[in-house]
Amino acid sequence: MDMDKGEPARIVVVAGARPNFMKVAPIVEAFRPRRVVLVHTGQHYDAKMSEEFFADLGMPEPEVNLGVGSGTHAEQTAKVMVAFERVCVERRPDWVVVVGDVNSTLACAITAKKLGVRVAHVEAGLRSGDMSMPEEVNRRCTDAISDLLFTTDEGAGENLRREGVAEERIHFVGNTMIDTLRRNLDRSVAVAARFRAETGLEEGEYAVLTLHRPSNVDSPGRLAAIMGAVGAIAERIPVVFPVHPRTAARLNGAGLHRGVRTVEPMSYLPFLGLVARARMVLTDSGGIQEETTVLGIPCLTMRANTERPITCEIGTNVLVGTDPERILGEANAILDGRVRAGVIPERWDGHAAERIVEVLLDQPGRDKEFSGAREAAGVLPCRV
Ligand code: UD1
Repeated sequence: MDMDKGEPARIVVVAGARPNFMKVAPIVEAFRPRRVVLVHTGQHYDAKMSEEFFADLGMPEPEVNLGVGSGTHAEQTAKVMVAFERVCVERRPDWVVVVGDVNSTLACAITAKKLGVRVAHVEAGLRSGDMSMPEEVNRRCTDAISDLLFTTDEGAGENLRREGVAEERIHFVGNTMIDTLRRNLDRSVAVAARFRAETGLEEGEYAVLTLHRPSNVDSPGRLAAIMGAVGAIAERIPVVFPVHPRTAARLNGAGLHRGVRTVEPMSYLPFLGLVARARMVLTDSGGIQEETTVLGIPCLTMRANTERPITCEIGTNVLVGTDPERILGEANAILDGRVRAGVIPERWDGHAAERIVEVLLDQPGRDKEFSGAREAAGVLPCRV
């Protein structure tokens, strides 16, 4: 654990798992040239789940890596809390910024809050209504204790208001993951073109599959049913399947249709570029529902619910559940050309991170004297 550079910092930004990296990258960037401390909890640690994302996104190395790794939910959350408490005590930040809904998000939010450090939650207010999802528990608990709640759409704000969150804590800023998408799309399409050339895939003539939700992959019956539907789809179109480590352990070499091309988890650029030129995407991810909506690519989400309903209401996403017949029916409709044109949600315009930074810099210092002393020492200006 690298914790020897213990200077105080006004802002600590936390990232822990794969979907977090795209969300924090534009925030760290928008803070420049001011100093923020980027903390990686180490929830995801394989090069393909972490390091390669930093390289693709041109992100600075995290200043602190807590190196917590995998474990049960309690183990992982607890390890992050213990390690992050030391970071907060040493760095004495005014703000801790957490993103998304992974275990690291909740762990760092609770830890900071109990030390009297203010917490800003990016991507607040999303609700699937399904408390059996670990992410739903993480989202609700994080929102309940966050001082500032940055939302990606108006529906998320309404969810928070319904839960009694005061208006002045809610800021509708847009989607930082889409900031990253917009910044990297051209490059990602070029990178993916090389992958396609090597693997003989034609633009618009393949589907992309991702699958990693415990509710889908931890049940052998459900996983087999989904893969049965995918096999039937692969009769019509090649299916590229970057396999998450959790899923790889469950598939365990199970016989897949020959049209299903399994590959290792892909880093950000090749994956985004591959999705951008796909005929359709099959997924149980959260973020991919949003990315496909912005890219205008049909997306079939193999879940019973979504915390991102806007992608179904106005985007290109359809919730298909996990019934193989429904999955196949909707996939066939897309392959037969029955495709819904979507609309890009408001403020998913590439400027969400700038709005977040503007709000954060406008907050009063926690303790005037303390912040002032640090400003004088040139650590961080309080305002732009
Ligand atoms: C986590 C998030 C989920 C997010 C997903 C994206 C929580 C509760 N879940 O789920 O919201 O959509 O990340 O990937 O935080 N593993 C590796 N290498 C790694 C990381 C994980 O092999 O770098 C394996 C380990 O066997 C581990 C398993 O994957 O036990 C699951 O990892 P974990 O971080 O617990 O949850 P995810 O399923 O990745």
